[in-house]
Amino acid sequence: MCGIVAYIGPRQAYPVILKGLKRLEYRGYDSAGVALLNHGLKVYKKKGKVADLEESLIGKDLEAHAGIGHTRWATHGEPSDRNAHPHSSASGKLAMIHNGIIENYTQLKTELTKKGYQFKSDTDTEVLLNFIEDIQKNNNCELEEALRIALKRVVGAYVLVLLDQDNPDTIIAARKGSPLVIGIGKGEHFLASDASPIIEYTKDVVYVNDFELAIIKADELVLKNLGNEKITPFVQKLDLELTAIEKGGYDFFMLKEIFEQPDTIFDCLRGRLDVNNRTITMAGVQNNIEQLKNANRIIIIACGTSWHAGLLAEYVFEELCRVPVEVEYASEFRYRNPVIHAGDVIIAISQSGETADTIVAIERAKEQGAFIFGVVNVVGSSIARISNAGAYTHAGPEIGVASTKAFTAQLVVLIMIALKLAKEKKSIDDDRYVYLLNELHNIPEKVKEVLLLDDDIKKLADKYKNAKDALYLGRGYNFPIALEGALKLKEISYIHAEGYPAAEMKHGPIALVDDSLPVVFVATKDSYHQKIVSNIQEIKARKGKVIAVISAGDDMIPKMADDIMMVPEADEIVAPLLSVIPLQLLACYIGIAKGYDVDKPRNLAKSVTVE
Ligand code: F6R
Repeated sequence: MCGIVAYIGPRQAYPVILKGLKRLEYRGYDSAGVALLNHGLKVYKKKGKVADLEESLIGKDLEAHAGIGHTRWATHGEPSDRNAHPHSSASGKLAMIHNGIIENYTQLKTELTKKGYQFKSDTDTEVLLNFIEDIQKNNNCELEEALRIALKRVVGAYVLVLLDQDNPDTIIAARKGSPLVIGIGKGEHFLASDASPIIEYTKDVVYVNDFELAIIKADELVLKNLGNEKITPFVQKLDLELTAIEKGGYDFFMLKEIFEQPDTIFDCLRGRLDVNNRTITMAGVQNNIEQLKNANRIIIIACGTSWHAGLLAEYVFEELCRVPVEVEYASEFRYRNPVIHAGDVIIAISQSGETADTIVAIERAKEQGAFIFGVVNVVGSSIARISNAGAYTHAGPEIGVASTKAFTAQLVVLIMIALKLAKEKKSIDDDRYVYLLNELHNIPEKVKEVLLLDDDIKKLADKYKNAKDALYLGRGYNFPIALEGALKLKEISYIHAEGYPAAEMKHGPIALVDDSLPVVFVATKDSYHQKIVSNIQEIKARKGKVIAVISAGDDMIPKMADDIMMVPEADEIVAPLLSVIPLQLLACYIGIAKGYDVDKPRNLAKSVTVE
């Protein structure tokens, strides 16, 4: 949440920062701002999107070779010009941007207020900035020293980047809990929340760790810990191309990402699944196979869409590996007092690898001796780094705020892990194992077929776009897909939607059914097919409008449903990889038909780095 960019070097800082902010807008778009150093500090900020800031700055003097920029997802204080970052200190000499939350800011604010400080915004950031300046004044020390002292008092999560009018050749940054990447160019440095603003300038990057400070000049990068000891920066090469973060002819990233799924699933399988040799190669699993095989229990922790992937994994692991699995919302897990044994394996699932609740849940589980296996998309992200082992999903950058291709890649990775483990545990017979390997192998081609439904789904979107509510029902492996379909619809189109196990509807939700309620059934052929057919009849008997995702060859449901979306036949374990795609498209096209920016749904941010 919140995107930060900074630049120091021979280029004009503003265009670099502005372009970077546009790339990071998925992290928040409540307001945006820049601070530029050029014979003094100039701070410009504006409520709204980065484009609004850009427009407001036409004709302004933006000349500078050092600057910082921010795109905000509001935490403390409503979205407004005055709460936008960068914030300026009381003296006007310092400017700071912040991603995260300072939890003890009220305490710091009270102390500063007693000393006579006044605040122009409602933010925790402005409080912290003045706290730093106050320390600098009282100790008559360098900004770097004041920051170090201040951070020892700070409770919370942050990436902070500061400009100091009195030291125009230096940018200072610090990190705890939120992501920060530094790009190293020739005689220039770039800072950002992720690598997307950096890749067109350099591929050499340093991921800053928690409790590290970076003191950056155009031609020098010094990393230190809070004890003022120098740390050797670990320079890595970025494995990311510019085309991967552009829209590639689509109107929305979300659409592009939905249509990328044949490729992303293929990439996820590539080099791992070998149908000819009947093997799955995953180093993270292989190197820790005893730990995984001997797990008494697997606990899956995740949030949102990643949690839905975890729920499906529960069904798959229990079925194939005969190991008990629990699926937990990371935000609940971190605060309750869960019973964890040394033999427990935690699978943490996260697209961004930066979700604050998931990170803390992992830390809690680690403290109690659990082994952490991360299933993460963003390479080098915090969760990837704090896990004991893991597997990347290789879906490429996901920029649309609503997760699509990352979800299917998570499912593929989780199914592969389950298959590999089942094979090792001998809990799956050879025929079923080989059959499922082939079924997975065939998924990218089948996804291409599903995407041909595009035009039909656009028409459906038009038909149902004015619905006030919707119910999504599924059983077994399709229950998590019903939840995911409902989540996609509500976040993108703002239509209230609920996902339920189909059989549960009789215990309450059926009361909602009337002739205006669309009920989406995820009803591909599986062991429960006959049961879900009965559920459809129950809805029809109450005049609900039935939209069903069905398998090719199903001749029963088309006779009952108002609308159908037909996907190729597949084994019930891999069928969710197909059945979710029409639901992603339906949500996306309803959002577009209603005139919404589906890449930036209101109130949301891509990476939830606050609790
Ligand atoms: C929904 C969505 C969110 C994320 C959730 C977890 O479309 O994207 O629900 O799935 O915020 O994020 P990650 O996977 O980055 O931990």
